[in-house]
Amino acid sequence: AAPKDTFPIPAGVFAQTVTSIQHYTDRLFKFRITRPDSFRFRSGEFVMIGLPNAERPVFRAYSIASPSWDEEIEFYSIKVAGGPLTEHLQKIKVGDTVLMRRKPTGTLVNDALLPGKRLWMFATGTGIAPFASLIRDPETYEKFDEVILTHTCREVAELTYGKELVAAVKDDPLVGEFAQGLRHYCTTTREDYPFMGRITDLMASGKVFGDLGLPPISPDTDRGMICGSMDMLRDTKAALEGFGLAEGANNRPDTFVVEKAFVD
Ligand code: A2P
Repeated sequence: AAPKDTFPIPAGVFAQTVTSIQHYTDRLFKFRITRPDSFRFRSGEFVMIGLPNAERPVFRAYSIASPSWDEEIEFYSIKVAGGPLTEHLQKIKVGDTVLMRRKPTGTLVNDALLPGKRLWMFATGTGIAPFASLIRDPETYEKFDEVILTHTCREVAELTYGKELVAAVKDDPLVGEFAQGLRHYCTTTREDYPFMGRITDLMASGKVFGDLGLPPISPDTDRGMICGSMDMLRDTKAALEGFGLAEGANNRPDTFVVEKAFVD
């Protein structure tokens, strides 16, 4: 392959430097890049990223996993063999360049929800990324008295990023005092773990509510954010609608919002 500095940086994109990388499994890794001074976003939004390895680089939507106050930008990614972007992205090293388009967007933002007592975040797989941003933003705890992050993965090792994150949030000098009440409910579906099952099944049976000591979801008190595969979104959305919640958007806040997790 040609050296990457053979290709000029496309006009209108930020070229940022990788500052750290952590691999969790052969399928999952996190990386952080420098933040352009002029780049503003709302916690929970996504942005298009790519690599300077072609005349016309491949860009993919990535949720920003760091909060809006952070001086770096964090991403949490899958690695797909033969994936147009992740095939190359998984090999990045500290000091490499990552391209980022200028305009962040997304619906998993506090503004798209009506105020409520309790915020439920439903994540599967890398769908935890936007919530990694939101649970580090003090605004989330100002808007909701209770925050519950559910995360379901096939295997136990895939829960590590979220577990380390929640522990770090509670220890953080800036958000720690807000986040003491954050609840983290992890389940697996294909490897033994103390809590098992799809979140949709655990809501239908009521087990998640029993485990957490909470009443079933109600539009009077509860708000939801959902991020996962298309199938997970469809089924979790149906579950929340079954509890009487309704989907909102940036220009029409309501009781839950939905966004697709990164796919390839
Ligand atoms: P399962 O192992 O039963 O398929 P994926 O990697 O396919 O996105 O799955 C991530 C996690 O989301 C897995 O634990 C998976 O459970 C779960 N999952 C997949 N589809 C759904 C769905 N339609 N509703 C709820 N959870 C789902």
